[in-house]
Order: sequence, then C-alpha cells, then structure tokens
Amino acid sequence: MLTKSMRVINNELYVGKHKVSELAEAFSTPLYVYDEVHLRNKLDIFKNHFKSNKYKCETVYASKAFLAPYVCNIIKEYDMGIDSVSLGDLYLLEKTRFPMNKIVMHGNNKSIEELKYAVNHDIGLLVLDSLEETIELDELTYELGKDVNLLLRVNPGIEAHTHEYIKTSLLSSKFGESIFDDKKIEHIIDKCNDNPHMNLLGFHAHIGSNISNPESFVDEARTMMNFVHEVKEKYGFHTKVLNLGGGFGIKYLDNDPQINLELMLKMITDTVDQLSDEMNIKLDKLMIEPGRSIVGDAGFTVYKVGGTKLTYGGKKYVFVDGGMTDNIRPALYKAKYSAKIANKYNVGESSLCDVVGKCCESGDIIATDIILTDAARDDYLVTFATGAYGYSMASNYNGALKSSVVFVREGEVNMAIRKESLDDLVKTAVFENQKYFDAHCDVLYDLYKKKEAGVENRFTDFHVPQLLRSDVSKALWTIYSPDEFDLIEACKTALNEIDMSKLPDFEVILGLEGLRNLKKVEDIDILYNMGFRHAMLTWNEENQYATGAKADATHGLKDEGIKLLKRMQELDMIIDLAHLNEKSFYEALKVVNKNIVYSHGNIKALCDHPRNVTDDQMRALKAVDGVLGLTLANNFVSSNKEEQTLDNFIEHLKYAINIMGIDNVCFGFDFMDYLSEFPNSNLDELASADMVNNLTVKLRQAGFTDQEINKICMDNFYKRFKNKITLRG
Ligand code: LLP
Repeated sequence: MLTKSMRVINNELYVGKHKVSELAEAFSTPLYVYDEVHLRNKLDIFKNHFKSNKYKCETVYASKAFLAPYVCNIIKEYDMGIDSVSLGDLYLLEKTRFPMNKIVMHGNNKSIEELKYAVNHDIGLLVLDSLEETIELDELTYELGKDVNLLLRVNPGIEAHTHEYIKTSLLSSKFGESIFDDKKIEHIIDKCNDNPHMNLLGFHAHIGSNISNPESFVDEARTMMNFVHEVKEKYGFHTKVLNLGGGFGIKYLDNDPQINLELMLKMITDTVDQLSDEMNIKLDKLMIEPGRSIVGDAGFTVYKVGGTKLTYGGKKYVFVDGGMTDNIRPALYKAKYSAKIANKYNVGESSLCDVVGKCCESGDIIATDIILTDAARDDYLVTFATGAYGYSMASNYNGALKSSVVFVREGEVNMAIRKESLDDLVKTAVFENQKYFDAHCDVLYDLYKKKEAGVENRFTDFHVPQLLRSDVSKALWTIYSPDEFDLIEACKTALNEIDMSKLPDFEVILGLEGLRNLKKVEDIDILYNMGFRHAMLTWNEENQYATGAKADATHGLKDEGIKLLKRMQELDMIIDLAHLNEKSFYEALKVVNKNIVYSHGNIKALCDHPRNVTDDQMRALKAVDGVLGLTLANNFVSSNKEEQTLDNFIEHLKYAINIMGIDNVCFGFDFMDYLSEFPNSNLDELASADMVNNLTVKLRQAGFTDQEINKICMDNFYKRFKNKITLRG
C-alpha cells in the first residue's frame, strides 16, 4: 500500500528523500504525512480524465476529507473549487484567501448565520437542502439584497454498496429532497423563479462514500439525467449545472479490488454525453466532488510503538501512541487498515496481532488481525491510506493533542498543521468563573439611544442575553453626554427599559458620564432621587462645570463645578474624575476627597493618550484612597494597532499596581460593541462583556493569585461602593 513516492531502502521506509522514522522524530508522533507527489497525481487524473466536449467539467474538492490552507493552495493551483459544509469551513477558506466564487456549500441544517455568511461572501454555489431552507433563503436574500447561485440537492434513491453510515441516497436519508417528491420540487423551482436574487442553476446528488463499483455512478448519472429531463418536461426548468457529488472509493488494503478512477470518470461522462444527446439536454457544466479519492491514499500516519502485550487469552497487542483520537474510522465503520514497521520493513520475525491505541476504550483499534513484524518500544509503525477523514475527524478524547500534518515532496517537507500544545487544549476551558464589577459601562445611553431610534426591547433582546453569558455580575451603568439632550428625560427613558427580574443577582449603580446637560446644580438632586449615585462633570468637552480631557488644557474647574462637587459629596455620591483634563482633575481634588474614582483610563507612561493618567495623577488618587479602573478601549492601550493586545493591557494594570498598590485598581471596561458609533473600539481579545473570561485566564497566566484577582475584578470597587447599588436582579 505504498504511496507514489515511497520506497524501501535497507529495510527503512522512505517517502520522497526522507526516512519516515526521521520525519517522525523531527515532528513527533502521531504524525500525519501526505505524499504530495501522489496527491498531485490524483488531481492530474481528475483534470485529464473528467472531460467532455459537450459541457464544461469541474472537479470540486470535498474538503471534509481534509482541510488545511496548504491543501487549499494546491487545489487553487489546479484551478479547482472547494466544497465546504459549515461556517467553520468558510471561515478557514476565507482566511486562506481561497477564491470565494469557487466554493460550493452544502449542509442539511445550515444556520441563518451560515446562510448569511455564504450569501454575503458571494460564494460560488449554495446547495439548497430542502423546501424549508429555500423559504428561509428567499426571505434572507431580500433582506440582504444579494444574489446567490443555487443548486438543489435531490435524493435519487440509489443503493450504493458501501457502509450504512456513509450511504446518503436511500429514500429515508436526511439529505436533500426526493426526486419523487413532485410537489416539493415544483414549489422550490417556483420560489426560485419568483425571487430575482435566487438563481437556481440545477441539481446536486451524492449517493455515498467509498464506492468502488463504477456502475453505482453510472446508475446515478442516468437517474439524474432522467430527472433533469423530467423537470424540463414538467416545469419547463432548464438545468444548466448538474453536480453528481463525490464518493469515489480508494484501496485501503493490498487485496481490496483494484479501482480504476480514470475509467470511472469516463463512464460517468460517457453516460451523461449519451443521454444529453438522446434527451436533447444542454448542460453548461457537470460537476463532481471527490474528497477521499484525492487525499485518502496520499496520506499515511506514523506512530511510535509503546510496547506489546500477549494476553492470557492468547491475543497479541501492539500499542501505539495514538488511536481512535487520530483515526476514528475503525471504531466507527469497522474500517480496516494495513500497517508496517517503518524502521524494520520486511525484516525479522512477524506475528498476528491487533494494533491498538491508548484510549480507555476497547474499540480503540487501529488495525485488527494483521501480520506485523515483531515490534518493540520506540519502533515506528505506519498505517496507510489515512489521508481522508483521519485528521478531519480527530478529537481530543482522553486529552489527546491533535497531531502535526506534513506534506513531503521529494526533499521538501512542509508543515500544514502544527501539533496542538497543552495550552491549545485548555484554551477554551473555563477554570473559574471569577465575577467582575464593571466600573464603566454605557448601557443606559444605549437604552436611551435605541429607544429614541424606535428599537423596542433592547434591554431584554440584547443586554440580558449578553450579560447572562458574561462573568460581569455587577456594574456601574452610565448615560454619557456627547451632545445636547434632555438629561432627565433621557434617564427616565433608559430606566423604563430595564427589567432587572431578567438578570437574577445582577447589581447596578446608576451613573452619569458628563453633566453638560445638567441645567443647574440643584438638578443633581432630581437625578439622585431617581437613583443616580455617580457622576463625572464632563465628557471630553469644556462645559459650565469643568474642562474635559480633549478641551483647552489651560482651563479647569468652574465655580458651578465646585458647587456641584460639594453637593455630590454631601449626597455621598461617587465622584468620578475620568474625562477631566489634568487641571480640572487636580482642582477637583482640592474640593472633594471622598468616594473618588477614575473609572476608565489607562497609563500615560505606556500610551500617551489624553484620557490616560500620569504617575502623579495616580499618586493623587491613591492619596484619597481613590480607585483607578483600567479600560479596554484599544487606543488607550496603545497607539500602535499591533500592540493593542490583552498582554499589553495587563502591562497597564501591573504599572498601576506598582504605583497605587493592589487595593486601588479595578476595571472600567467601557465595552463599545453595542454602540453603533464606536465599532471595533475594544481589544479584539476582549471585545464584549461575554468575553471577560479571557481576562481571568490572562490574569492567572500573569501570576496574580486568586485573592489578588478577586480584589481587582470585584472587591476593590464593590466593597467600597456597595451601599450605592440601586438596581438589583
Ligand atoms: N459531496 C458530498 C455532498 C458529501 O457529503 C461528501 C462526503 C463528498 C462530496 C465527498 O465524498 P468522498 O469523495 O470523500 O467519499 N467520514 C466518512 C465519510 C463521510 C463522507 C461524508 N460526505 C468516512 O470516513 O468514510
């Protein structure tokens, strides 16, 4: 079962110019290796033998067999398309810069998100799976105002002689609509005819996978051509594109029947050619979607032998360092593989054995009842023809790390996928649900603004679900004042939207970000009586009370501002010095010294932004036992795009702690994901309230203890100000 460029020299297995055992040592095992020469040879077969002079023939690679940018780039070289099945696939293809107009997308249960992504990214062909999906897409295309080219997947009801689980064309199959279901077919055609955005080009069928009998494909081609003829007669629908799917088998074992791919392809095109003449059908294009037959026999897996065991019952096992986690096919389909010892090829004693993996499952089998050279610990074992549905179905069961994938072409070795690290494995694990107090959040402004714009239920539709997903459990919600409006009315509107019963245990302090719209000092009492316990004198502007961070640096606090601060202190409100310019900041500290915070800003020494604080300002805050809230606005972290990272945000935090100590810092995140005027303004790694768990992970990695983390994230703010909570869920 050697691949095209494999050979054996002195009992050592080589691929191209490389000893397989040396590749295994270099990249660690288990290792997936692709013989690129073999793979390209398969692509040549499709290029040269899937042909007709009556219509265009197009091969689309079914990427579910194995998907990595490296293989996409080879497919691109051959000017072929790629078949995808999910948002995940589309995302990787887009990142690979694969031409979107050469992508076909399948799926029997595509989500609205997937459909939107496909339509918005102008993919080549979307394959409709059902009448229900057609109706959904009908609405969606109008909503998006975008056109899309379509095929309809039909089920031709053909018996393909293959494993139960990979047959797709029985009448009870979940895929597509039956060719016998006249009503649905007609309804779908009508829907597409009526919608100028939906361009139905033809039909798709896929009868199953790993089919070795060419007659199954001839049968499929015949059935589909009859169907094409029928829809022309019955509904006047002219099929331009016919896609016959994939499913071409490969040889897994030496004594599997020979498969003549060239002949299979010719038999298909001969059948379609002949029937298009007989039935007077003029196709523009015939498509196929092979996956396994392109990558399957080009790939093999290398394992390290851990040892052997002879059971009391007389069975001999060879243990390898992988198993069902890198090849689930034996467990799932009872698939058979052949194996060899790469560094003892055809040498020494051999015996009957099972090759098994290291998972806690008796079904964790790699190969059963094979004759294998007697292997010992640290030998390298190779299983052949694992290039399709090996890596793509790999899992992390039992803490397995997904392996590297390399491509070998003569002397060249290229890594296509790197082995997962232990950190990759725990990346998505939530270690602890550290709860957060967010000392700055513009929820009130959003509620007011959206209500004004006619959006109903913003609180329950957006903020509630997001906060339920979030580790933020308490927050200071503000209404900010970038321009002029009736502040008291706006606050009423915002508060009316809130239904705290939807957020059990959530606690809120109500705050005001800027008081330019407070007509007179006394009005602060009205807001206090409405529940407001916090205010900043300005946003970035200069107003009747003080001067903001982006206004004239030589102007400072005003007389009215002094009165306002004094009244706020009498009311025991939180006095927030954020957004003031430096002059106003220091002048305010001469008037008040209780309940002082700077709710959202970072460190000027690390990022010179007018909203960040100097070392002296931090010392002044500390002197009144004030709290500084570090913030996620990306341009407050760094002016350089590449440096707008969570790691650098942690540097700001560490710097603040150095000056102010661990008890006087907190987070005022200032998430802007929901404010349409500030798109993408937070760090990518922490762009919304439901991502704060990433910060917990970072804080732990940065070496903070659990106690320190809880102080920063929750207690420093909450313990000081919990008597100012006005809303409780
Ligand atoms: N087109 C469609 C719509 C498909 O569903 C498939 C495979 C293909 C093309 C490609 O089929 P291929 O040429 O690779 O046989 N995990 C199973 C195979 C599942 C196949 C799923 N669909 C296995 O390991 O055998």
